[in-house]
Amino acid sequence: MGKVALITGVTGQDGAYLSEYLIKKGYTVHGIKRRSSMLNTDRIDHLYQDPHDENRNMILHYGDMTDSMNLTRIIGDVQPDEIYNLAAMSHVKVSFDTPEYTANADGIGTLRLLEAVRLLNLTEKSRIYQASTSELYGLVQEIPQKETTPFYPRSPYAVAKLYAYWITVNYREAYGMHASNGILFNHESPLRGETFVTRKVTRAVSRIVLGLQKKVFMGNLSSKRDWGHAKDYVKAMYLILQQDTPDDYVISTGVTTTIRDFIKMSFAEAGITVEFKGEGEKEEGFISAVNEDIFSKVVGAEHLDIFKKRIGESVVGIDPAYFRPTEVDILIGDNTKARTKLGWEPTYDLKSLCQDMMLHDIYLMKKEEYLKNGGYKILNYFE
Ligand code: NAP
Ligand code: GDD
Repeated sequence: MGKVALITGVTGQDGAYLSEYLIKKGYTVHGIKRRSSMLNTDRIDHLYQDPHDENRNMILHYGDMTDSMNLTRIIGDVQPDEIYNLAAMSHVKVSFDTPEYTANADGIGTLRLLEAVRLLNLTEKSRIYQASTSELYGLVQEIPQKETTPFYPRSPYAVAKLYAYWITVNYREAYGMHASNGILFNHESPLRGETFVTRKVTRAVSRIVLGLQKKVFMGNLSSKRDWGHAKDYVKAMYLILQQDTPDDYVISTGVTTTIRDFIKMSFAEAGITVEFKGEGEKEEGFISAVNEDIFSKVVGAEHLDIFKKRIGESVVGIDPAYFRPTEVDILIGDNTKARTKLGWEPTYDLKSLCQDMMLHDIYLMKKEEYLKNGGYKILNYFE
């Protein structure tokens, strides 16, 4: 018999990659999905099986992190060997607009899950992974950040996740639960939500090069992030739960880059050089050159002549609406503990991550059926 995993947040970026990864390892995966007026299972449709199929290895349950009774019932029914708590209102900027809900889902939601495991007498059986975050470091007290760096959260999201981090540690110490925090730095992919900065950029650049959009408006271009690929990061989640003793781990690449440079890299994937001029709200990015060979190969020779007429145009502007009341200026993680204790290391660098996202988004934007259906291509992510 393979192991049974329960994943909250199964419809999200990480939930999708982790589901596929665990199913390939022989797990039966149960996922908790919120009810919504549209299906919202695009990222996991290639894994989903009809309830009438025999021997299913992917089973979905309706549920919500704000509903204790629902979580308790599902955990009692599923009797999971491993629980991955990935569900969260995960957008930092949106958490300033919905602070109470964010505290409820991301903070108290984690308590509900831990308490359900305790009340059901599953503390010996069920190992728990908590999706903690580099946002905990906020106004960073040390560079690079490691497991011992003090936290200084800078958003309602990060404060809610701070509670979740410590309640996980507390249940481990108080009840001997195998409960661990993965302190994951930003990780991205072609499945990344469309309003996080990398995906917003790769989608916009893809539309700009194809003539579907003139310009993209951004917030703070100077903040720095340590970006890895979500495919690598879900493997770390799995490894954390395979350890004999529970513990907390930083998962990062150890390289940090500005938003401005990520924008330049994304245009460069299509053979376009963008230069930034001006400062603050007046800063703009202009097309300064096109490499015809790369553009023709990546975007298509049929779009080249039209695009060349745009050399000198502004394609990036600033809209202060995207600024945050309190910003996290720099994140860069020291992953020594994960490398030495878990044997984990990232396989994607930022260039290969950016290329993966750009090729995917150019492909999607080119496909009329994508625009009509708004769907992801059905893929096996690890092939
Ligand atoms: P994501 O794409 O935003 O996915 C979040 C998931 O949580 C979605 O399935 C969402 O459902 C679900 N969810 C939200 N509120 C819920 C609620 N009240 N009840 C049940 N489900 C709920 O996030 P992600 O990038 O995969 O990240 C996974 C986890 O890791 C999150 O906890 C995030 O905070 C944390 N994290 C992410 C990163 C990163 O860089 N990606 C880094 C560190 C930590 P819907 O599909 O219905 O919205
Ligand atoms: N979203 C967004 N949109 N961010 C922008 C924009 C924009 O138009 N312009 C500049 N930024 C800057 C933000 O101000 C921030 O400094 C940086 O880009 C990254 O923003 P996001 O991609 O939204 O991610 P995040 O770092 O705030 O949070 C993500 O990573 C955390 C781990 O560090 C989320 O996935 C969190 O859930 C996760 O915990």
